[in-house]
Amino acid sequence: MTTNPHIRIFDTTLRDGEQSPGASMTHVEKLELASLMEDMRVDVIEAGFPAASDGDFAAVSAIAAQSKSAIICGLARSTPGDIDRCAEAVKQAARPRIHTFISTSPVHMKHKLKMGPNAVLEAIGRSVAQARNHTDDVEWSAEDATRTDFDFLCKCIDVAIASGATTINVPDTVGYSHPEEYGALFRRLIENVTNSDKAIWSAHCHNDLGLAVANSISAVANGARQIECAINGLGERAGNAALEEVVMAMKVREDTLPFSTTVNPAYLSRASAMVSRITGFPVQYNKAIVGKNAFAHESGIHQDGMLKNAETYEIMKPEDVGVAKTSLVMGKLSGRHAFRDKLESMGYFLEGDALNDAFKRFKDLADKKKHVFDDDIAVLVDDQLAAEGERIVFKRLRVVCGTDGPQTAEIDLTVDGEEKYAIARGNGPVDAVFNAIRQIVQHNATLDLYQVHAVTGGTDAQATVSVRLNGEGIMATGRSSDPDTLVASAKAYLHAVNKLEARKAKRKAA
Ligand code: KIV
Ligand code: ZN
Repeated sequence: MTTNPHIRIFDTTLRDGEQSPGASMTHVEKLELASLMEDMRVDVIEAGFPAASDGDFAAVSAIAAQSKSAIICGLARSTPGDIDRCAEAVKQAARPRIHTFISTSPVHMKHKLKMGPNAVLEAIGRSVAQARNHTDDVEWSAEDATRTDFDFLCKCIDVAIASGATTINVPDTVGYSHPEEYGALFRRLIENVTNSDKAIWSAHCHNDLGLAVANSISAVANGARQIECAINGLGERAGNAALEEVVMAMKVREDTLPFSTTVNPAYLSRASAMVSRITGFPVQYNKAIVGKNAFAHESGIHQDGMLKNAETYEIMKPEDVGVAKTSLVMGKLSGRHAFRDKLESMGYFLEGDALNDAFKRFKDLADKKKHVFDDDIAVLVDDQLAAEGERIVFKRLRVVCGTDGPQTAEIDLTVDGEEKYAIARGNGPVDAVFNAIRQIVQHNATLDLYQVHAVTGGTDAQATVSVRLNGEGIMATGRSSDPDTLVASAKAYLHAVNKLEARKAKRKAA
């Protein structure tokens, strides 16, 4: 048991993370992610911004209702309507929190809020007191704190604490600070604010200059006891501090950063993969902690060192962050039992039809592909989970491609159970596939992103395709994998179309 000060890990993947363009998540995906975060033992889950939409309200309420031990937090502007809506959404949580904020920098007050300093101070007192009437756990944030006049920032925080705020967040909203400066800001604030010991100090750093993690760590070294961060660093613009990086920085360098968190790092890899699957944002190969290459050693000198002693080039073990040793999975003769064990060792607990379906898909894959690796199984199950309950279902695809053309795709789908067929030409096979789908499911969304990655090595590797569609401002991302890149493309496109249609219907109903 460590006696190091406890740093609260406040995960904002579902709120600030979801605000990144194209990263929106479905209700079910949000619940799935929140549940994993609780298992991973983050302290606070910022589940959304309840006043932003009915969908956000419903997601925050459902996450609050399913929560067991984590604090469930909702974001609210300083208006009475926002705070009441947020209180309503988090009330079923065992430990509800209201997080209210207002801008304090001159540029934000003048151009965004069109409010003077006195009006801002008045709004802080009123909003925090209103939130405290709903719950004892109230966080207050000074948006754009790092570009705020220091004396005014102290005054704002004085008012927030006097009105009942229990956590004070000092965001680097525009990712403008550097580590020494941000750390010094915490030190000075804690020294100058009246009753600074009555609140927990929190860091919230954006990554516009690539300094979000360094700034968060510097804040902790200077008195902050909560870090707001997101899995894979998801968030507005260049993102937030990456959860996996702040957690592992403190764990690996406990000698110089004597702090502790309750996060179980063995979940980091899975959490990263889940966020990537849900958002369709691929994880950069050389991303710290969770990138595909984070534990890969290519050069002869490094490989030689690793074989002699892993400590020569590894400061943490892949298993520490949940990276399973790449292993060959059973071949096509493997039984259902062994497959189920394999899934469980990878953290997938499937039963009944879901298990049968996954097993059949595994067998089909093993027929096509000589070696089936853990990563192959993970994308296979992720695909299956992502497709659950979709209206438009992929059945068959035939494509003519190559030099002679014309590039043509014939596709069979079912839409609400009814069989549909289309044939179309295109400027290349992918274009032909997408045109055929568009003949069946007509829409005018534009294709914002089309990306292909190999799941493993080898020419028989599965391809993972990510597709992002933009339909009148509604974004939807789809992802799918298959040994045939065109089949993966068709399925990924259909996932995105399914999501887009569902979101459009929701917007229409609202
Ligand atoms: O970046 C920011 O300032 C925020 C606040 C709402 C906390 O996300
Ligand atoms: Zn933010």
